[in-house]
Amino acid sequence: MNILVTGGAGYIGSHACVALLEAGHDVVIADNLSNSRRETIDKIREITKKDIIFYEIDVKDTNKVEQLFNNHNFDGIIHFAGFKAVGESVNKPLEYYYNNIVSTIVLSKACIKYKVNKFIFSSSATVYGDNEVPFVETMDLMPATNPYGQTKAMSEKILMDAAKAHPDFSVSILRYFNPVGAHESGLIGEFPKGIPNNLMPYITQVAKGKLNKLQVFGNDYPTIDGTGVRDYIHVMDLAEGHLVALEKLRPGVHVYNLGTGQGTSVLQLLNTFMEVNDIDIAYEIVARRPGDIPISYADVSKAKKELAWTAKRGLKEMVRDAWNFEKNL
Ligand code: WQD
Repeated sequence: MNILVTGGAGYIGSHACVALLEAGHDVVIADNLSNSRRETIDKIREITKKDIIFYEIDVKDTNKVEQLFNNHNFDGIIHFAGFKAVGESVNKPLEYYYNNIVSTIVLSKACIKYKVNKFIFSSSATVYGDNEVPFVETMDLMPATNPYGQTKAMSEKILMDAAKAHPDFSVSILRYFNPVGAHESGLIGEFPKGIPNNLMPYITQVAKGKLNKLQVFGNDYPTIDGTGVRDYIHVMDLAEGHLVALEKLRPGVHVYNLGTGQGTSVLQLLNTFMEVNDIDIAYEIVARRPGDIPISYADVSKAKKELAWTAKRGLKEMVRDAWNFEKNL
């Protein structure tokens, strides 16, 4: 199939492009490089030995998107492009609503107009808010109080209503838990601009000596060791989840959790990183981060049953591959 991947130069998008190309699909990337790098496109080519077409465009731009759909016959689209920093979204709500919602509307309209009837949407476990764990797809959403989580919940609703009005328009909504790690080659990985918000890139930058100490945000949560628990999933497992969601997409709208179903605390992840990579990481316990929930992990039975997909890589591969990418930078 010929697939448009928006945000394909980004962290998860680039890994999904590798999985798509290695499965024999053709890929066209549209990315405005606002949170990614042009050289990532060359790294995807180096890993897969396949060519990709790349457009540096903003997918909110209706004219540019029209040209794109005019010039290519897409069989499907995977929409990754979007702002994704929770903390930043609190300070810049209008930018987040405008960017994340308008891009979804512009692309959905183009898909319906050009009869591109397979739409895979990059959503997030943030839409569950602090529901009871494990999070299940049928739960009522309680989007986190941050605008980022709201944009994901609203985009899901927009896609569901669009599919109701246009029965041929089929959608798979993928709710990610905590993506970490990198492709085994070490050529692509998580390369955040500025000081990382997320735990794993912060750890790898301390290991590299770019940052001097990890701050653990609270150890007084009701968890195994008091630190926050999350469902970390290897980014290549996540990428493969997109591939099967696309290839097995049936008519209608389908929602899937992409996680491992396992919860891991901050200190458990930190200790696994230190043991596997034989590196000491300095850390200190500080106050909780506002907005954090204590525990988040997925019920993964639906993706297993309907997509025959489960995450295959464990914490050891996650911390090994994350460090392998960082140390090669
Ligand atoms: C994980 C754990 C922190 C940094 C967010 C978004 C989610 C998704 C992934 C986009 C928590 C702790 C973190 C640090 C720490 N993004 N931590 N010190 O907050 O679970 O999820 O990123 O889709 O939508 O909400 O990920 O990596 O920031 O935090 O102690 O320097 O690590 O408190 O328990 P989070 P995270």
